[in-house]
Amino acid sequence: MTNILFAAGPELWADYETPLRRALDATGLDYTLGCDAAPETVDYIVYAPGSKLQDFAPYTRLKAVMNLWAGVEKITGNPTLTAPLTRMVDDEGLTQGMVEYVTGHVLRHHLGMDAHIVNPEHAWEPNVPHLSRERPVTVLGLGALGQACAGMLAHLGFPVTGWSRTEKQVERVTCFHGDDGLSRALADAQIVVLLLPDTPATRNLLDADRLARLPWGAVIVNPGRGPLIDDDALLAALDAGQIAHATLDTFRTEPLPADHPFWAHPKVTVTPHIASETRVDSAARVIAANIRRGEDGEPLLHLVDRDAGY
Ligand SMILES: NC(=O)c1ccc[n+]([C@@H]2O[C@H](COP(=O)([O-])OP(=O)(O)OC[C@H]3O[C@@H](n4cnc5c(N)ncnc54)[C@H](OP(=O)(O)O)[C@@H]3O)[C@@H](O)[C@H]2O)c1
Repeated sequence: MTNILFAAGPELWADYETPLRRALDATGLDYTLGCDAAPETVDYIVYAPGSKLQDFAPYTRLKAVMNLWAGVEKITGNPTLTAPLTRMVDDEGLTQGMVEYVTGHVLRHHLGMDAHIVNPEHAWEPNVPHLSRERPVTVLGLGALGQACAGMLAHLGFPVTGWSRTEKQVERVTCFHGDDGLSRALADAQIVVLLLPDTPATRNLLDADRLARLPWGAVIVNPGRGPLIDDDALLAALDAGQIAHATLDTFRTEPLPADHPFWAHPKVTVTPHIASETRVDSAARVIAANIRRGEDGEPLLHLVDRDAGY
């Protein structure tokens, strides 16, 4: 018998119970699933960062904790968690949503859509947009989400550069890695998309110095994590014109406080952490398939590297 504890909270339980049971039934596993269980009996925990469960020490036979979100910065530092931790990678749901968000917001800036959508003076100003091949885009982070977004942008004709921690080869994407590679990745980027995790190594990555290395008038799209950008440096770069616009989906404090200057800034678009959400049905299938792998002695997919923090 495989005992699975759903510790992601009562609201998500209401959404997930049926899809999870359906997905687990399809694996043929003999299992129990619920929101309550004696800790020493639990094999797997389905988890979300806001969970009340913070002390994993009593879960003595735990085989893995499976996070429902892609971001794991709120759990990687938990010293009581010694079992493997997996994060959400879901091509059908989470990744597809992010590809749509990133493509939409890149195209908005590339095509200069705002000038026509908000045109109270009814100005007839025929500024014909560039073609995508004339607009270099850089994607910082070439993981599950970054690679999918870079691939779609390359498919649309943008010259795409990507940057990661370790060396990567991605079809139709010019790849750089490591500290040295960052300067090269930023040098030509007219639009920068951030799809990095929040780790000690990525915090304040886009600071005043790095923002200044971007071409004049570059655009930032950040569905990654708020701490990747130094807020004050970004505001200064926007005011100076170095950065023409920032579309931000993630923030250091969420919800973004009502008095935060991003809300009122004319060159900032705030979206409320909606770039992409875990989709229940496909995520339930990902979790069930990974539990099945664990029970069959196969390596778990989407394992978090606790030392690297993602
Ligand atoms: N706004 C939203 O709705 C939303 C939804 C889902 C996810 N997210 C965010 O998106 C992030 C990315 O998700 P993912 O699934 O693509 O993650 P992932 O598969 O873990 O990929 C992370 C990428 O970042 C790179 N990276 C990490 N640390 C780095 C460093 N110090 N220097 C250079 N590159 C570094 C990794 O390099 P390697 O390839 O070398 O490992 C990898 O390419 C998540 O962590 C989360 O914060 C946001």
